[in-house]
Amino acid sequence: MKHLCDIRPSDGDPYPVLCGGDSATALASVWRAEWRQAVVLGDTTTSELFGRSIASGLRTRGCEVLELEFPPGEDHKNRATKERLEDAMLSAHIERGACIVAVGGGVPLDVGGFIAATYLRGIAHINVATTLLAQVDAAIGGKTGVNTPHGKNLIGAFHHPRAVLLDVDALGSLPTAELRYGLAECAKHATLRDELLFIELERLADDVRPPSAELIQRSVAVKAAIVSADPFERGERAVLNFGHTVGHALEAATNHALPHGAAIAVGMVIESRLAARRGWLDASDLTRLSTLLTRLGLPVHAPCSFERAAPFFSGDKKTTAGRIRCAIPERIGIVRAYEGSWTRVVTQAELREAWT
Ligand SMILES: NC(=O)c1ccc[n+]([C@@H]2O[C@H](COP(=O)([O-])OP(=O)(O)OC[C@H]3O[C@@H](n4cnc5c(N)ncnc54)[C@H](O)[C@@H]3O)[C@@H](O)[C@H]2O)c1
Repeated sequence: MKHLCDIRPSDGDPYPVLCGGDSATALASVWRAEWRQAVVLGDTTTSELFGRSIASGLRTRGCEVLELEFPPGEDHKNRATKERLEDAMLSAHIERGACIVAVGGGVPLDVGGFIAATYLRGIAHINVATTLLAQVDAAIGGKTGVNTPHGKNLIGAFHHPRAVLLDVDALGSLPTAELRYGLAECAKHATLRDELLFIELERLADDVRPPSAELIQRSVAVKAAIVSADPFERGERAVLNFGHTVGHALEAATNHALPHGAAIAVGMVIESRLAARRGWLDASDLTRLSTLLTRLGLPVHAPCSFERAAPFFSGDKKTTAGRIRCAIPERIGIVRAYEGSWTRVVTQAELREAWT
């Protein structure tokens, strides 16, 4: 794998992001001798496709390996799953010097990272990302967590991985719909900070296929720069929540029937429509973004009423003193702080108006 960059969180050691094929060999290159035990954790699909060979590679190197899995999907990213996996680790006498290798999309990575953050008050973990969405977004930045009936990702921790491996070969088996969800996050990064990436997405939009390593790299570069500047989301990192105020509410309101990437696509359009009405974003940029997402095969209309989603706005992590906040770009490729804040206060009435 190629070394893409190092993420340099202000509170911890830098960690490498590697990109390419053969994650088992790449894992060996970042493995530390002090990690005598490994917990290879994925959903049943990613464990079968990738986890087994990673585990057997680690065993060959003399490591004691526990393999853990849970059913795929957002519905299983919850406290019950975390508890069950932790109990299995405790029963297997996994010690503080162990390293969790989370293998899969954003769901196993978020769950594995959160277990690593709290197990015996914190152990090491490595992310092996096998969906496009995880490669350009979820694997990087140290956010971990689980969902609750009150909303998405409401229980979690910041806990940085020791290394991130982006297995681009894995994208060969990824269903096209999942590729589209990952492209939604690429479009988010492009809209925030990289107009050339946006133009590249416009160029390939009608023929969705696993993107080039260069495109993944550009998207990762946007996220890496932002999380390195603000690892704990005290300011600038909030811009990565563009589309997420509405998107997370839609995911919760539909009981995750609307997948994360699709929800973010709809969220970006609704939040941009609101921004265009407020004069924060040019209407032509809204049209350009909405057109790109549609051409990528992503939804741009809410699948449920505003009233159904509204209760979840108050639980959004950006909501402060009851005021709903959205991260809004200034134009395609540029996002800046506005009056000292990276998010803007919006009202329920404005969101309702922007809904369609
Ligand atoms: N921590 C963060 O910073 C962050 C950022 C963005 C998103 N997320 C989270 O990520 C999650 C969404 O991630 P996701 O879209 O990767 O979902 P996911 O992990 O559920 O993966 C989607 C599906 O693809 C399957 N799959 C994974 N890799 C495969 C492969 N190579 N071939 C075939 N099938 C494969 C999985 O089994 C699953 O069914 C959400 O929970 C979201 O909140 C977290």
